Amino acid sequence: MSKRRDADDHFSDAYSLSSADETLQHYRAWAATYDKEIGEDNDYAQPRRCAEALHAVAPAGSIRILDAGCGTGLSGVALAAAGYSNLTGCDFSPEMLEQAATKGVYRTLFETDLNEGLANVDDESYDAVTAVGVFSFGHVLADACDGLLRVIKPGGHFVIGLNEKFWNEGALPAKIDQLSSSGFIQEIIREHGDHLPGHQVMGWVLVLKKC
Ligand SMILES: C[S@@+](CC[C@H](N)C(=O)[O-])C[C@H]1O[C@@H](n2cnc3c(N)ncnc32)[C@H](O)[C@@H]1O
Repeated sequence: MSKRRDADDHFSDAYSLSSADETLQHYRAWAATYDKEIGEDNDYAQPRRCAEALHAVAPAGSIRILDAGCGTGLSGVALAAAGYSNLTGCDFSPEMLEQAATKGVYRTLFETDLNEGLANVDDESYDAVTAVGVFSFGHVLADACDGLLRVIKPGGHFVIGLNEKFWNEGALPAKIDQLSSSGFIQEIIREHGDHLPGHQVMGWVLVLKKC
């Protein structure tokens, strides 16, 4: 018997994704309804929390920010609302990027697989990188931190907002501990709080400073 699938139930599948291809197909299909399901119906909290965390450590204005895994642009909208105006977004789903373009907050958008290391982006070219909701099962994996940190200027910031289920999986905290103990980053904020209140999902916000 086939399972009935509502048009707005993409979230229930999001934590069972296990490969990059499955994840890409998931977001290609979700792009048109993501903002309603996540932003409007379920009070997605991480974009605002991450923008506020960056604001606590880096001045708003024209600092150059890469919103990595920008999706439909909810994270960029929150950064713009916090006063940041020089935003670039990237994602591996062209459909999500199309939606992001309609928000009018990004100067540039480009397609990339963040697990491949951002090979076309210059070293130390951004003041900050944000990764909001992108570290997760079958999504962006802990080792992608290396490429994301490579493109941040020394003294710049890396802001991560993620659901606590993936944090508890363990690979990302282990990677962050390893980067901290090797002196590559300094962890300056780690806050627990709402991720997606409409689904009672909690999450973490981290701000890492590149040494
Ligand atoms: C939950 S959405 C978050 C989007 C946006 N940052 C937000 O907060 O609304 C996760 C995004 O990560 C993107 N993504 C997942 N894996 C990726 C990868 N390996 N490379 C690039 N983008 C990826 C998806 O296409 C999707 O747009």
